Amino acid sequence: MTTPENTTTAAVAAAAPQAPERQGLPPGKMPELRVMPAPSDANVYGDVFGGWIMAQVDIAGSLPATRRANGRVATVAVNSFVFKNPVFVGDLLSFYADIIKVGNTSITVNVEVYAERNRLQACTVKVTEATLTYVATGPDRKPRQVPPLETLL
Ligand SMILES: CC(C)(COP(=O)(O)OP(=O)(O)OC[C@H]1O[C@@H](n2cnc3c(N)ncnc32)[C@H](O)[C@@H]1OP(=O)(O)O)[C@@H](O)C(=O)NCCC(=O)NCCS
Repeated sequence: MTTPENTTTAAVAAAAPQAPERQGLPPGKMPELRVMPAPSDANVYGDVFGGWIMAQVDIAGSLPATRRANGRVATVAVNSFVFKNPVFVGDLLSFYADIIKVGNTSITVNVEVYAERNRLQACTVKVTEATLTYVATGPDRKPRQVPPLETLL
């Protein structure tokens, strides 16, 4: 039942400053990569370089693509890349990568990155989302067909 008293309580709660959104790591999923940025990965402001994060995302995305291609792949496109929150030196980053599309020679992968910071306080923040396309290539570095799923071990 809504009373003047609990209506006031709700209004006070709504007006209170919002704590930053906290999320856990995605349940039941294994990250492709876990890595902690070092001071040498930071920019002059002390936050981690976007380029360093992009390199790790490219590596993480290439892992499922390489397994699906059963061999070498080359990154042909970064379709989207969003830095949702800053990354700090000492954050423990987890990179989750899922194949979202398989074409004739291409494999598109979605990568999500979570930072565990202040780890003793269990604070986890999604920091980056990206989609990249890889192309299966042969020894000549030319595109080759992605093998049918049933031929993979
Ligand atoms: C990757 C590479 C081998 C592809 O060769 P290409 O002759 O350009 O390839 P194609 O035009 O035949 O396209 C191959 C596939 O990539 C896809 N593709 C090409 N450009 C794309 C783009 N901008 N965005 C998304 N997909 C793209 C095509 O749709 C095609 O997919 P499909 O076969 O599943 O339909 C060549 O572009 C290359 O060597 N690029 C440099 C790669 C590199 O150095 N990456 C950085 C280090 S890994």
